[in-house]
Amino acid sequence: MCGIVGYVGKRSAAEILLNGLEKLEYRGYDSAGIAVFTGSEINVKKEKGRLVNLVDALKENPLDGNTGIGHTRWATHGAPSVKNSHPHCSMTGKFAVVHNGIIENFEELRTNLKNKGYVFASETDTEVIPHLIDSCYKDNGGDFFKAVSQAIVQLEGSFALGILCQDEEDKIIAVRKDSPLIVGLGEGENYIASDIPAILSETRDVYLLSDLEIAVITKDSVKLFDLEGNPVSKEVFKVTFSENAAQKGGFEHFMLKEIHEQPEAAANTLRGRLDSSLKLHFAEMDSAVMGKIKKIHIVACGTAYHAGLVGKRAIEQLAKIPVSVELASEFRYNCPLIDEETLVIVISQSGETADTLASMRMAKSLNVPVLAITNVVGSTVSREADFVFYTYAGPEISVASTKAYTTQLVALFLFAIFAAESKKVVPQAEIDKVKTELLNIPEKLSQTLATEDAIKELSKKVFKEQNMYYLGRGLDFSTAMEGSLKLKEISYIHSEAFAGGELKHGPIALIENNTVVVAISSDGDLCAKMASNIKEVLSRGAFVIAFVNDATKATHEDCNEQIVVPTLLPLIAPLASIVPLQLFAYYVAKERGYDIDKPRNLAKSVTVE
Ligand code: M6R
Repeated sequence: MCGIVGYVGKRSAAEILLNGLEKLEYRGYDSAGIAVFTGSEINVKKEKGRLVNLVDALKENPLDGNTGIGHTRWATHGAPSVKNSHPHCSMTGKFAVVHNGIIENFEELRTNLKNKGYVFASETDTEVIPHLIDSCYKDNGGDFFKAVSQAIVQLEGSFALGILCQDEEDKIIAVRKDSPLIVGLGEGENYIASDIPAILSETRDVYLLSDLEIAVITKDSVKLFDLEGNPVSKEVFKVTFSENAAQKGGFEHFMLKEIHEQPEAAANTLRGRLDSSLKLHFAEMDSAVMGKIKKIHIVACGTAYHAGLVGKRAIEQLAKIPVSVELASEFRYNCPLIDEETLVIVISQSGETADTLASMRMAKSLNVPVLAITNVVGSTVSREADFVFYTYAGPEISVASTKAYTTQLVALFLFAIFAAESKKVVPQAEIDKVKTELLNIPEKLSQTLATEDAIKELSKKVFKEQNMYYLGRGLDFSTAMEGSLKLKEISYIHSEAFAGGELKHGPIALIENNTVVVAISSDGDLCAKMASNIKEVLSRGAFVIAFVNDATKATHEDCNEQIVVPTLLPLIAPLASIVPLQLFAYYVAKERGYDIDKPRNLAKSVTVE
């Protein structure tokens, strides 16, 4: 998704903006641009494609100045092109604006502005903003702050904005609504950014802006106001994760680094929540609230949704509470049967996913308690939910989610234990078995990484395939879905996941000689059934790669390839089963030579519907 950086200070703004935009490349983009005060004029440079194109263009025609805003755009309204990229300027060039989000009423605003004589240069929704500010500026006798505050109340939709005004040389105004934006605090210099990594090399002190708070930023001060211009005070948020944590740390790709970080990330999720004497400290929610809950909806998108599917099993098995798992993009438009005895759990790594946010807000409007499981401290989801469980996985930069998924699973297992101990409907011994297994998870995850070399070799055999099918039963079906999503998003190989028992109901028609089938079998009780499904595809010529453990491997010796992971309690097994599938997707994509951390058409954080 789009990225924003802004700088006001004494150093070269262009250099800092480009540096920050580079750190935001992981968010996905198709063009980039900056606007810098060169003397008393705002000058803009924009290029289509990768940031390096902009860097090259600026080498030829530098923009020298100490105040500027920059943007990487991921196209929504209007194709990727120079004219549609940001910053966008008002007709007179007085205002330059970078924008993340979508302006839903842009057509109506554009018509009004055209009637006032404004001429539009792009197809974007964003361009209404500089023209609208310009119009409000005229109406308010040239008051920059009033112009912005009057303009933004006319905008429907979501926005994070960085704004320059030609008449106020060393100033940026920043404001957000439903799209993340922070202000970084320095000495004699200040910053704005849509995400912390963009400015982490410059400062660790930030303000997390709330909706419709307006920041007026100069090199010596950052002042926050509400829409009426009343001062707002805010605590400085100290970023604690290391800069290295936002970098590749010696790995070729963020995705590989993040796969390897899973043991530590899971340990961080568990830390302080489950102690060695098996006592659970689930401080995120009150067990009196939990005691009243009779039904749970888990709502999420993509990988987080797949985590929810595993969470359902854990909660139903341990706490006997019925759980439905729903895609946020569907949930928000359905008519879910929810009441005050229902708990909605939203899961979102970024805490900014538009559909998940909308679902959360819908639930809240119906007075239903919401628990958010998220990785990003200070994210919108974390600020609006009633209860927040942070996974503490550290920043996840790769678009393909890996450590976010495993830590979401750990979070859901901990929640299931919390619900179980509040409800007391299953014997404590059963719960304690799960707790004991969870305490060993960091070590077991390390063991799963030992499959890496074998997977690297295996991927060389299959990377040229055009289709691969994933099979699993029970929780292995959820793992199959997640493994299949990983493969398709970074290797662009067509892939689908099927429940083993569904094969005969249609999918088996796809199997022909040498079709690659990835079979996941981690549950000793289900492996005989899986063995039958595997035989069905083997006998039709499939090349079967089985991901098994010590409890199931003997049953699947007829497969073409076997990858063995540590054996865990069946309920927890998805934690071990997914790691080799992440590695498999990674090495297949690497063999195919793709841009693994920035897969085509995808964005890390989907902040528009
Ligand atoms: O930030 P979120 O967890 O809300 O993101 C949800 C999905 O967009 C995300 O999991 C996506 O499916 C990943 N790219 C998958 O690897």
